[in-house]
Amino acid sequence: MMQNLYLLGGLLFSILPLINAQTCNSTSLCPSIAPCCSEYGYCGTGSYCLGGCEPLYSFKSTSCRPNPICQSQETNFNDLSRVQSNGTKFDGNATAYDWVVNTGVLVPSPSGDGVRLTLRESDQGTKISSTRYIHYGSIDFVLESSKWNGVVTAAITMSDVKDEIDWEFPGATTDKVQTNYWFLGVANYSATEGAAADISSDASSNFHTYTFDWQEDYINWLIDGQVVRTVLKTDTLSDDGSQFKYPSTPSRIQLSIWPAGISSSAQGTIDWAGGMIDWSDPDYVSNGYFWNTLQSVNISCASEQGQSITTTGWSYQGNDTQGIPIVDVTNASTLLSASELKAVPIKNGQIFSLVGILSLFALSGITLL
Ligand SMILES: *[C@@H]1O[C@H](CO)[C@@H](O)[C@H](O)[C@H]1NC(C)=O
Ligand SMILES: *[C@@H]1O[C@H](CO)[C@@H](O)[C@H](O)[C@H]1NC(C)=O
Ligand SMILES: *[C@@H]1O[C@H](CO)[C@@H](O)[C@H](O)[C@H]1NC(C)=O
Ligand SMILES: *[C@@H]1O[C@H](CO)[C@@H](O)[C@H](O)[C@H]1NC(C)=O
Ligand SMILES: *[C@@H]1O[C@H](CO)[C@@H](O)[C@H](O)[C@H]1NC(C)=O
Ligand SMILES: *[C@@H]1O[C@H](CO)[C@@H](O)[C@H](O)[C@H]1NC(C)=O
Ligand SMILES: *[C@@H]1O[C@H](CO)[C@@H](O)[C@H](O)[C@H]1NC(C)=O
Repeated sequence: MMQNLYLLGGLLFSILPLINAQTCNSTSLCPSIAPCCSEYGYCGTGSYCLGGCEPLYSFKSTSCRPNPICQSQETNFNDLSRVQSNGTKFDGNATAYDWVVNTGVLVPSPSGDGVRLTLRESDQGTKISSTRYIHYGSIDFVLESSKWNGVVTAAITMSDVKDEIDWEFPGATTDKVQTNYWFLGVANYSATEGAAADISSDASSNFHTYTFDWQEDYINWLIDGQVVRTVLKTDTLSDDGSQFKYPSTPSRIQLSIWPAGISSSAQGTIDWAGGMIDWSDPDYVSNGYFWNTLQSVNISCASEQGQSITTTGWSYQGNDTQGIPIVDVTNASTLLSASELKAVPIKNGQIFSLVGILSLFALSGITLL
């Protein structure tokens, strides 16, 4: 028995690098055996088919599970009962959890006003994502940002085809916050100019409410109820007039703290964030981490055309003639099956389905046991 396991282990290790190498992008879609393209650009099954699964790079655009439909709700982060702290355990049931922790660790705020997202020298910080998606509507974030050079706090929406709307707080400037948006993974850098908004009091030691009012025709960014920036969809028409470069696809809501001031970052990123992180900072030494504090997130969904009582989510149906992904409501299940949940984690944190690996053995003619 031991020997068989040992043999199995050896075989897995010899074959995993092969699977590991299976990447996906716009010209190289995933194969049927590992149909889902993860948000990090790797093919697989199981959790690869959930949040962030890139439909246009997957085997079929419907290989990814549907994006769970929006539900208006407020989360107060003093209560973590609806947060799945281990994101890889999530099975796609957005009724069971409102948030998952993708990376890092949440620590209840010592003053009892929410939760800290933490950053350690040994990790890449913390990121949490909503289990449901929003397709227009408004989102209020009540938070305190981080205040250390090189440390960035972000509150964003992110779709599976990389439409994105941002609040970004580089730690060096706690009296300002940056706004930005991305269309299919491309930032509108020209529009970024002048997009830093003033905050009435230090963002790292005062809770403020940061709102996206994201509608089909415009995006408003608001701080404490005051509009600080507006982008009209009509202003985003490409120079050749062929498409609106405007975020229009269902998105998860994500919050993070991440290390921009580290040697592996580009110099521009380091400068933007206020320089290298000082890991001997007394705050870091006494707490063992840097942090921001998240008090609440209030989601208010826009009403969705075609939605019925049986609608479970949104799915993608390829591109339209302007290259804009087509999104439809669907009644299909958002959940992974029991067999898809049996995933094998490997060293670098990527997860591969045991079923997928066994089918590879079957394909290569190797008989187990
Ligand atoms: C897509 O991936 C393939 C295989 O890894 C690679 O050869 C190709 O250059 C990539 N294309 C793009 C657009 O990144
Ligand atoms: C998260 O869950 C996976 C799958 O059940 C498990 O292998 C892993 O050890 C867990 N990670 C943590 C940090 O608990
Ligand atoms: C999803 O989770 C809810 C709440 O925990 C539970 O009642 C429901 O049975 C689950 N659905 C499935 C299909 O597992
Ligand atoms: C950026 O947005 C501005 C309007 O805000 C628009 O004029 C410009 O074409 C956009 N640039 C890109 C690269 O999308
Ligand atoms: C959440 O947002 C909605 C829409 O803006 C608003 O009507 C509601 O009062 C907010 N709820 C809380 C608890 O702030
Ligand atoms: C969708 O359109 C984009 C932009 O034109 C293009 O890069 C991509 O290859 C298209 N994808 C599919 C699956 O047609
Ligand atoms: C979903 O189910 C409803 C009610 O059965 C039906 O009317 C609708 O056509 C279905 N929608 C889709 C996209 O399958």
